[in-house]
Amino acid sequence: MAQEKSPDCNYLMLLLFVFFAMASSGCGVGVNWGTQTSHQLPQEKVVKMLKENGFSKVKLFDADEWIMAALMGSDIELMLAIPNSMLEEMGKNHKAADAWVYENVTGYSYNGGVNIKYVAVGNEPFLKAYNDTYLKSTLPALKNIQTSLNKAGLGAKVKVTVPFNADVYYSPESNPVPTAGDFRPDIRDLIIEIVQFLYSNSAPFSVNIYPFLSLYGNEHFPFDYAFFDGNNRPLRDGNSLYTNVFDANFDTLLWALDKAGYPDMQIIVGEVGWPTDGDMAATVQNAKRFNQGLLKHTLSGDGTPKRKGIIDFYLFSLIDEDAKSVAPGNFERHWGIFEFDGKPKYELDLKGHGKDKGLTPVEGVKYMLKQWCALDPDATASDLEDLPESIDYACSLSDCTALGYGSSCNNLSWRGNASYAFNMYYQVHGQRDWDCDFSGLATVTDKDPSEEGCQFPVMIAGSSSLLHIGFSNALRKAAGLCMVVLFLLYC
Ligand SMILES: *[C@@H]1O[C@H](CO)[C@@H](O)[C@H](O)[C@H]1NC(C)=O
Ligand SMILES: *[C@@H]1O[C@H](CO)[C@@H](O)[C@H](O)[C@H]1NC(C)=O
Ligand SMILES: *[C@@H]1O[C@H](CO)[C@@H](O)[C@H](O)[C@H]1NC(C)=O
Ligand SMILES: *[C@@H]1O[C@H](CO)[C@@H](O)[C@H](O)[C@H]1NC(C)=O
Repeated sequence: MAQEKSPDCNYLMLLLFVFFAMASSGCGVGVNWGTQTSHQLPQEKVVKMLKENGFSKVKLFDADEWIMAALMGSDIELMLAIPNSMLEEMGKNHKAADAWVYENVTGYSYNGGVNIKYVAVGNEPFLKAYNDTYLKSTLPALKNIQTSLNKAGLGAKVKVTVPFNADVYYSPESNPVPTAGDFRPDIRDLIIEIVQFLYSNSAPFSVNIYPFLSLYGNEHFPFDYAFFDGNNRPLRDGNSLYTNVFDANFDTLLWALDKAGYPDMQIIVGEVGWPTDGDMAATVQNAKRFNQGLLKHTLSGDGTPKRKGIIDFYLFSLIDEDAKSVAPGNFERHWGIFEFDGKPKYELDLKGHGKDKGLTPVEGVKYMLKQWCALDPDATASDLEDLPESIDYACSLSDCTALGYGSSCNNLSWRGNASYAFNMYYQVHGQRDWDCDFSGLATVTDKDPSEEGCQFPVMIAGSSSLLHIGFSNALRKAAGLCMVVLFLLYC
């Protein structure tokens, strides 16, 4: 008898569980929308695409007013970031925090406005590469923003968080298992203070997790362990088995929080994804394998060995950004699920069922004329003395990351290399006649020089504020900007 009754009971509990899991996760897939590009797609067309694909959460690195305007009335849930460069002012001056909240949150918080759910205070402010620049300002900024939100009457609806890089925690080399996880000793006390503050405000801990970088940084890293199909020999930690590095990383954080006294801290994965060019392992095939596996895994509710349930996350990223710094590597400009022109690079099932389901592109994109800049075929060897300098110049003011070792255009001839560099310069600068010269070595052609696997792009037309200020200025300008995440999956 009891056996007959239990399925009903289990069913009810399952329903309840699913309900709470959905309520707590916002029920969907988010995506980071970065804007460090030489040419922006029309923001309202991107928002339309997001809705059509069923993305309903976005993370933005900056309150870009065009994107904010496009998001109005859309229901898309937003995590809105304050750039690191503003942290010091926000922390020192509560009036600055009030003004930021007033202009960028209150100003959009009305019926038919923007559905702002989180304010991200900074972006990976404790990253080792930042040499402690933001250690002192982050917590004061966080506190001031929370106070400003409370004063504006938004403290219950809009939650604060700080997206950290996963380098704020670790497990020792002598015992590299999740249970040994703890926060980095140099910032441990500070992080715990931040966790305490977030916890007391019912706000989440945010972390960016990058299995691709585990692979990129270490040639001995077991390749399959970066993915989710369980092909790798599992890592054993006590009674737990880890078949992918994402879970191991996530649980390392959970153990660090556990030791600090916060075993039930809410966690959001602020960035996770895989690039498609600029490195041997950065291919469309690997990106699809990773993201497809990630969606299936995180949305299944199976969770990790330490915590069951749906994992809340924002994919990184929406669209390729050709003006990002390549300091981390050439792959940095190729994280998009979509190309610079809004075409999906591969199929992705946002419901997490792993089906080969096409994504809808951004529609109605306008391009510049179908013409390219290439090395003049009549140029002779004696003309070519200056060629290496011309290529360097063209590449330094555009994007030649696809030419590098292991990248999609690495097999071009030296002529192909020159043409690729000239064309990128020409396209990024808006196809101006005088940008296809290079000491008379270059010529405009209407014959597409693309080769198998190596695309010579034609730039999109329109909204480029960068066109007239030149690419390097654009870069500087863009460095202040950042990203947005967007995507909700109805589960
Ligand atoms: C609102 O956000 C934008 C974008 O980050 C920023 O430029 C502006 O200064 C902010 N407003 C205030 C009053 O801080
Ligand atoms: C951090 O320090 C290193 C070494 O001193 C330096 O090369 C790098 O430019 C610094 N980075 C920042 C963001 O200050
Ligand atoms: C480039 O050529 C090498 C050797 O022929 C080959 O292994 C590699 O796959 C090629 N790469 C691309 C991107 O076509
Ligand atoms: C083309 O440029 C890439 C990147 O600079 C380089 O690795 C490659 O060797 C070049 N190819 C030729 C044939 O010069």
